[in-house]
Parts: sequence; structure tokens; C-alpha cells
Amino acid sequence: MFSKLFKTNSENETEEVDLDENKIPNHIAVIMDGNGRWAQKRHLPRVAGHKQGMENVKEITKAASNLGVKVLTLYAFSTENWKRPKSEVSFLMDLPSKFFDTFVPELIENNVKVNVMGYTDQLPEKTQKAVFDAIEQTKNCTGMILNFALNYGGRAEIVTGVKKIAEKVQNNELAADEIDEETIRKSLMTASVYPYDDPDLLIRTSGEERISNFLLWQLAYSEMVFTDTFWPDYSPADLAEDISKFQQRDRRFGGLNEGDKK
Ligand code: FPP
Repeated sequence: MFSKLFKTNSENETEEVDLDENKIPNHIAVIMDGNGRWAQKRHLPRVAGHKQGMENVKEITKAASNLGVKVLTLYAFSTENWKRPKSEVSFLMDLPSKFFDTFVPELIENNVKVNVMGYTDQLPEKTQKAVFDAIEQTKNCTGMILNFALNYGGRAEIVTGVKKIAEKVQNNELAADEIDEETIRKSLMTASVYPYDDPDLLIRTSGEERISNFLLWQLAYSEMVFTDTFWPDYSPADLAEDISKFQQRDRRFGGLNEGDKK
């Protein structure tokens, strides 16, 4: 079934976005970029962009859940983001408590379950508590999983996974020869959102076109959409449009379409 959504284009005209409800991507991952530039454009401090970015997470979470997305993974803080000024890092670390303090009831209303992936033990106590409380409070929700990547890095994730596998080999629980893609899959942090470990669609906002150490293994066959909009301005209509772009892609996973096999 097709549903029509409406969005306003740059000329302020209303445009229709057609979505096939049977082809909604199960797992969408988002690199929420451009908070700093959004703020700079308004002569505001960078952190004002992060605050607005956090507010927008609420809108996009509800929109994705309403559209039938199964997993929404958001890159909220990377293992490299510690390099930022102390004051900015500290502001970012306070966001989860600000976010969940007010938003958990709406998450529950929308049947959204919170999950986290990343090196959470290195986060400040208060941040850990906010996230783990929200996970506990939403544990019985059965709809979309809102998966925060917090202190996450794709390379570090692979290193950790490889160590786990090596330990099993060392303990004679696994033969080196038995290691396959499934072994690797299970060793990664996205195993917690099984069976939707791999994003179908990756969205990066703000015009940058790179992966920035996000889900390096899992993005192998993801469709990617790069949009110029800064994250705080990225609207539910933009999400619908990007899903519509995804629906027009021809996903072959390295194979051929039936008609092209002759
Ligand atoms: C990148 O923009 C954004 C981040 C490093 C932080 C993203 C965090 C949020 C959107 C809020 C997360 C919310 C919760 C609940 C944890 P940037 O600062 O690199 O922007 P710039 O490239 O314009 O400088």
C-alpha cells in the first residue's frame, strides 16, 4: 500500500512523497551531523545546536516509529568525540539525562524500546544511569528499538569482537577454522538488535559524505543517503523523502536482477 506524505520544498511549494508501506527499511542508522554549523549560522554557541539536535531526536524517533521502522540507530557520541573541548564533551554527556527525563513517557506511549551500544563503562556515572534507567523503563516495549551509539567506534568494536573470538579459540571453545561471518556478526555490538543487525539505510545530514568510523562491518550493503540539511533542521518529511529515495534503489547485494541473468 502507498501512503502520500507532504513536504515543503525550497521554493515553499508542497511536494508529495510517495512511500510504499511494504518497503519501509527495517533498520535506519543516522549520523546526526551539523549541530555546530546550525548554531553558528544563528550566532549561537555550538552547544545550542546539540540541544536543538536532541529535541529533534524526539521528532525523528516518533516519525520513524510511526512509519514502521524496526530499529533506529543514532550516532550520538563517537570514540573520537572525546577530542572536542571539555565543555562541549561535558554538555554532550548531560544530554541523555535531559532527554530521557522528559521523553521516557512518550517512548512508552509509542511502544519504543531503548538500547545502547558503545563503551558505556567509560561514560560519566550520571550518563550511564540515565541510559540504563531508560533501558529498564522501556524494556517491555515491543515496537521500534531506539538504539543509541554512545562512545561507539566501528574499529574499536571490531577489535573487541575479535578479542572475544580469539579467547574462545584459546579456550578450545571454537576452532579457528570454524570462524565465519556469523561468528563475527555475533561478536559485534549490533547483535543486540538481532535480526536487524545491519542497517538497510544510512542517512548522514549536513552535506558531509563519509562514514566516520560508524558500523564499518554492518554497512557493507546498506543504501546511503547524504543530505545537506543540518541535523536540527532534519524533519519527519525529510525522513520520508530519504526513505522514498531508498525505495527507489535497486538492492542487488552483489547479485543480479532476474531479468539481467541471461
Ligand atoms: C555532530 O555535529 C553531532 C554530534 C557529535 C552530537 C550528536 C548528538 C545529538 C544530536 C544529540 C543526541 C541526543 C541524545 C539524547 C544523546 P557537529 O557538532 O559535528 O556539527 P558540525 O559538523 O556542524 O560542527
